[in-house]
Amino acid sequence: MRILVVLSALLVAALARPSTHDYLHGAQVLRVNPTTAAQVHYLQGLQNQDLYDFWTEPHGTGLPVDIMAQAFSVPVLKKTLQTIGLEFTVQVSDVALLLAKDREANQKARASSGREMDWTSYHRYDEIEAWLEELATTNPGLCSVEEIGTTYEGRTMKMLTLGKGGAGKPGIFIDGGIHAREWISPATVTYMLNELVTNSATYDDLLSNVNFYFIPSINPDGYEYCHTDDRLWRKTRSDNGSPFGCMGADPNRNWGFHWNENGASNNPCSDIYAGPEAFSEVEMRNVRDQILKYADSLVVYLTFHSYSQLWLYPWGYTSALPSDWQDLDDLAHSAVDALTAVHGTRYDIGSSTNVLYAAAGGSDDWAKGGAGVKYAYTVELRDTGNYGFVLPPDQIIPTGEETFEALKVVANYVRNNYS
Ligand code: ARG
Ligand code: ZN
Repeated sequence: MRILVVLSALLVAALARPSTHDYLHGAQVLRVNPTTAAQVHYLQGLQNQDLYDFWTEPHGTGLPVDIMAQAFSVPVLKKTLQTIGLEFTVQVSDVALLLAKDREANQKARASSGREMDWTSYHRYDEIEAWLEELATTNPGLCSVEEIGTTYEGRTMKMLTLGKGGAGKPGIFIDGGIHAREWISPATVTYMLNELVTNSATYDDLLSNVNFYFIPSINPDGYEYCHTDDRLWRKTRSDNGSPFGCMGADPNRNWGFHWNENGASNNPCSDIYAGPEAFSEVEMRNVRDQILKYADSLVVYLTFHSYSQLWLYPWGYTSALPSDWQDLDDLAHSAVDALTAVHGTRYDIGSSTNVLYAAAGGSDDWAKGGAGVKYAYTVELRDTGNYGFVLPPDQIIPTGEETFEALKVVANYVRNNYS
């Protein structure tokens, strides 16, 4: 009995993540390099036990997997890996320390800039929203902002439409922040939006012929929870009745196209919990409705994640490819060539399932399969694991610069072929 109590206490500690960073003191990120299919398979099984936080997921031999273990389970994980002959390196030796340093860097950057919005530090949700409003107020005829709904916790969600050609022009839909802890995503999306608006004269032809729809942060509750409680939170913050008090669903397993067929979990404590049903998460319904509203004119859907430096296209639910995959692959290569030319950052390109792993319920799959947007991409931004989700703020601008070049390639392609 006693042992049961201890065991279940440990389980709850592992699953229900207490809402401070205490649980990260002494936590480590181990990098393993599976060399056989059996090892990959083993790691996938380990991930499904939900005992560890997989920062990147097992997807093939020769591809590194980053696994975070809390201090009490680091020795167990190391032993487990040794037993099956998997070599590992310690990628982050104390996650709490990394977070503390990052917080300091962000605060320092904020203090020295003193501006409401900038790209030398990461911003809170309300700052991003206020900035969207300001763009619309100061650039009438170019930008407009509308409320698209509220979040589970009652925050307002806003979408900015950019363009001066009027309705009917081909559209590019861009979102960020679906996974709360991937902070470089909203930062990069706002960077690109800012470039287009502040240099609108340079991009006059583009902005006259293409409409952009921007939602920089589509999981606001999760994003704010990262700032206030748990920097490594991934999911939404909805209550799905978990007996352990586990909150949220993985918003990128929640979309209604081949929902929950694979690569997702039915366990509300899992980081890849698909939710009780497709589109159970109100934030995803809000974004879905906007995509549907403009579906007829949308040519591109871009959703930004981190990390791994990948430019992915459907499908994510199956290893089969869409019939027009070659078109998506070609445009991805042009975009990535332009990206790499800026700072030498290298990206891999391919279908989600073939480059990563099968995972159904992603927004990209739904955009293509459900809404018929031809060029649907998931972009995994910097880095490849040195900092992972905790990318230092001094990498926002270089990430923004290179990603913007890729966006321009995509946008000019739309302008030249669809407008
Ligand atoms: N890292 C992303 C995720 O796990 C990749 C998504 C790729 N797209 C997909 N439909 N599986 O959500
Ligand atoms: Zn993500």
